[in-house]
Amino acid sequence: MSKLFSPIQLRGLTVKNRIFMSPMCQYSAHDGILNDWHRVHYGGRAVGGAGLVMIEASSVSPEGRITPYDSGIWSAQQVEALRPIIASIREQGATPGIQLAHAGRKGSCTQPWKGGKGISLKDGGWQPPAPSAIPFSADYNMPVEMSRADIDKVTAEFAASTKLALDAGFETVEIHMAHGYLLHQFLSPLSNHRSDSYGGSLENRMRFPMQVAQTVRDLWPDDKPVMVRISATDWVEGGWDMAGSLALVRRLKSIGIDMVDVSSGGLVPGAVIPAAPGYQTAFAAELRRETGMAISAVGMITDAVQAEHILVTQQADVVSIARELLRDPYWPLHAAKKLGVDIPWPPQYQRAKP
Ligand SMILES: Cc1cc2nc3c(=O)[nH]c(=O)nc-3n(C[C@H](O)[C@H](O)[C@H](O)COP(=O)(O)O)c2cc1C
Repeated sequence: MSKLFSPIQLRGLTVKNRIFMSPMCQYSAHDGILNDWHRVHYGGRAVGGAGLVMIEASSVSPEGRITPYDSGIWSAQQVEALRPIIASIREQGATPGIQLAHAGRKGSCTQPWKGGKGISLKDGGWQPPAPSAIPFSADYNMPVEMSRADIDKVTAEFAASTKLALDAGFETVEIHMAHGYLLHQFLSPLSNHRSDSYGGSLENRMRFPMQVAQTVRDLWPDDKPVMVRISATDWVEGGWDMAGSLALVRRLKSIGIDMVDVSSGGLVPGAVIPAAPGYQTAFAAELRRETGMAISAVGMITDAVQAEHILVTQQADVVSIARELLRDPYWPLHAAKKLGVDIPWPPQYQRAKP
């Protein structure tokens, strides 16, 4: 029996296999409201056999978006648009999840295919909040240093979005603390130059991300898991690193976070990242071994045997697949065949099953 196609239990939730669709922004929403593109996109990956389908980074507020076209989860209208997408995921026996996000200083940008650069205030952009007034790069807007009241406001926004995610019908939420977005900006000494209790020591830099994690965990039902995505390292000297990640994951575990998805980078432009197949799994393995947290590995996992190997060698509990699922929505069905596992195909496609 393959590990990849064995179910995983997280609290009261059983996911049918260990292939998670990694969250991927589509930059195709209007006012944060998802549409037919998303229904086909996510429903299609559920048809393709992914065990868990994680809806893309969904902002907790309008100014928390990367682009004006990001998914949002701050209004009832957004929840109504999510319902049919969730239904199409569930119909295939897959588990629906959503990533809750705030872009911080990486907000107010054009879509990547339009250059991914800062939209100025005169062109309808906004001045994003951040731990310190340090822009991501010269191409991005200057952020505003968050006050204590701003920190409480964003915490309240995460709380409101968590309630909306529950109302929409998600089984799990993933808090985005990776890729240089707001919560990661607080963690890293490169983007957090604060002199109050939210900056300076590791303890202080973890304070706001932990406050958000605690708030979400308190609101999410006891029988449903909460996930967190982190960047294990900034890949830059003097930046966020594995020592910090180990401390953070231990702390997340102590408050009942159920799984950590281990990515890396994104905090500063120009970091040299040795991207190659499975380049982040060593971080996943170390965090899993040292903390006992359930771990998702992500990053250039594209082959069934590679994915099975990561799980069998106990580097991770699940694999999250991103770009390979864009290339091939049916990757899980093909992976099963490759590993010699007989999984059911949607009955409509039965006559095509090899
Ligand atoms: C189009 C696209 C959009 C992405 N959007 C998100 C996102 O919303 N949230 C996130 O945490 N990561 C996002 N990522 C990163 C992926 O989830 C994943 O971590 C990364 O692509 C590495 O995995 P892969 O090699 O399987 O693609 C995105 C990646 C791509 C290609």
